[in-house]
This record gives sequence, structure tokens and C-alpha cells, in this order.
Amino acid sequence: MKNIAVLVSGGGTNLQALIDAQNSGIIKSGRIKAVVSSKSGVYALERAEKAGIETAVIGKKELGDGFDAAMTAFMKERGIDLIVLAGYLSILSGELLREYEGRIINIHPSLIPSFCGDGFYGLRVHRAALDYGVKVTGATVHFVNEIVDGGRIIMQKAVEVHDGDTPETLQRRVMEEAEWKILPAAVEKVCAEM
Ligand code: GRF
Repeated sequence: MKNIAVLVSGGGTNLQALIDAQNSGIIKSGRIKAVVSSKSGVYALERAEKAGIETAVIGKKELGDGFDAAMTAFMKERGIDLIVLAGYLSILSGELLREYEGRIINIHPSLIPSFCGDGFYGLRVHRAALDYGVKVTGATVHFVNEIVDGGRIIMQKAVEVHDGDTPETLQRRVMEEAEWKILPAAVEKVCAEM
């Protein structure tokens, strides 16, 4: 049974999908031991507390150079095996990436290599897809390395773009039809193979 930490920054719908998947048995090779947010007051922390999961806020702005060491210490003190970025908006670097090489995964709301990299997050991703006029988009789970959205792809799922879609309606469909399905599946796959 692997120990999982989930990093969040906002509403936590992907975290909720992981919690639900753990409860339904889709995730059976790992347990969510902690949820760490980049900032306080986000609904993802309430979701974790309701599920009885330890929470923490570790902010890059507040900690500055100490951020990397604080994150690494937090994970090692709890024997975390896998770190899952679920709507997490801070960029990880240095010691944490080295200590957890091949053990950090992220969900990105497009079919990488489209609409990814610096500046592509949240609604901006869907706005770019609509501006380009793609007919199919989707979500990707990938390993995290020093290149933003650059790590090896683990799983992807395609989602149709509908006429009249706005960034909001497209984001919702990508979440419902892709993110909330492939992130739990990818977490189970990676934990089972560790
Ligand atoms: C979503 O667009 C997700 O694709 C991206 O962050 C946004 C918010 O996710 N990774 P959540 O609801 O906080 O999980």
C-alpha cells in the first residue's frame, strides 16, 4: 500500500475524484495520507478535512527559498511514496524533484503536447483550444520533471469540443469526461507498478 500526498491550489474537484475512487476501490494500491495546498482558504482543504485526511498549507511566496526544503521534509516525514498534483499551480523544482524523480504525477487539461507549458493552466488552456478551433481536446496525466508539462505521458483521454462551447463549458466537460476518470486510473496504475 503506497502513501500518497495530493497537492492542490483551488476547488479540489480532482482531489474529490481521488477520494471517491479510494472509497469505491478504484484506487486500491495507495492511500491518500495528506493534502498540501499552495494557499489557505481553498475548498480543496475542506474536501480533505471532510474525508479525515491531514492537511497543510505550504506557500512558495511565504517560504521563498525554504519552500523546496519544507516540501521535501513534509513528504519524507510521512513516508510519502507518490505525489499527485491535482489543480496545483506552483512550479516544483530542485530537491523535491530530485528526491521524488519518477514519483510525481500531474493532471493537465489538454492532450499534451497541445496547449501546455508556461502560462497554460485552468481556463486559459480551454480558451486557447477554442481560439485554435480544435474539434477534439482532452486531458493528460504525466510524470513531472523540470520542464513544465514535459514529463513522460502516463494516460490521456479525448473529449469532443461542441459548437458554442465557452472556456467554462469546455472545462467542465473535460473535467467530467476525462480528468476525473484518468487521474484516479493513473494513480492506481502507478501505485500498483511501484
Ligand atoms: C482544472 O482545470 C484542472 O484541469 C487543473 O486545475 C483546474 C482546477 O482543478 N489541473 P481542481 O478542481 O482544483 O481539481
